[in-house]
Amino acid sequence: MTRRKLVAGNWKMNGSLGALSELDAIAEAAESHAGVDVAVAVPSTLIAPAVSRVPALMIGAQDVHAADKGAHTGCISAAMAKEAGARFSIVGHSERRADQSETDADVKAKAEALRGQDMQAIVCVGETLDEREAGRAEAVVTAQVAGSLPEGASGDWCAIAYEPVWAIGTGRTPTADDVAAMHGAIRAKLRAMIGDVADRLRILYGGSVTPDNARELLHVSDVDGALVGGASLTAAKFVPIIAAAD
Ligand code: G3P
Repeated sequence: MTRRKLVAGNWKMNGSLGALSELDAIAEAAESHAGVDVAVAVPSTLIAPAVSRVPALMIGAQDVHAADKGAHTGCISAAMAKEAGARFSIVGHSERRADQSETDADVKAKAEALRGQDMQAIVCVGETLDEREAGRAEAVVTAQVAGSLPEGASGDWCAIAYEPVWAIGTGRTPTADDVAAMHGAIRAKLRAMIGDVADRLRILYGGSVTPDNARELLHVSDVDGALVGGASLTAAKFVPIIAAAD
């Protein structure tokens, strides 16, 4: 089964109106590498201006609340993100699981809220260093997949991002063999849950992806793209990663 690769950037709490100029070359690269899907999750304040600057580029949010509206100070709903122009959102990033104590059930509900708005979801999972060193990485990650996978998940609107917590922003990455083993374990878990539909879901790798390691990581078996943090902030670094996926 061939799956189109998806290279998604996650700007986290970085960026400004001025920084949106980086999106010009990213949008051009997205157009010229027509075999790759390209997306950028910007801070919620930048969604509308980003969409207005590069309408063809898939712009998304980094989180949404599971509820449509209500007394949730500081949060935005999927409908609000959509109204601003977001076509997708990341949910369950490890920084939110850690900082906001988000559970698998929260993440599942957020992904389902996105589905309710006809938006796409990138559902993040990943183990900590302690969990890996204790030999529990696969058990932890497949349990997160089991708990976070939204109802009705399909390749049309849902992707999984495997981001080992210890690889995020550290310059450390798992070996290609370790990535292949984890992505294979995630695929097997998905097959057990949703049967053949699992073969259409993209599984992205995230954690210290750079222009130097992208080609190797992006062509590991069962790796269907990348979720890129730091290296997505500038076109100079993100464009070569897009090219490496082609
Ligand atoms: O969501 C992307 C991310 O957590 C990876 O960040 O900076 O290691 O590419 P980074």
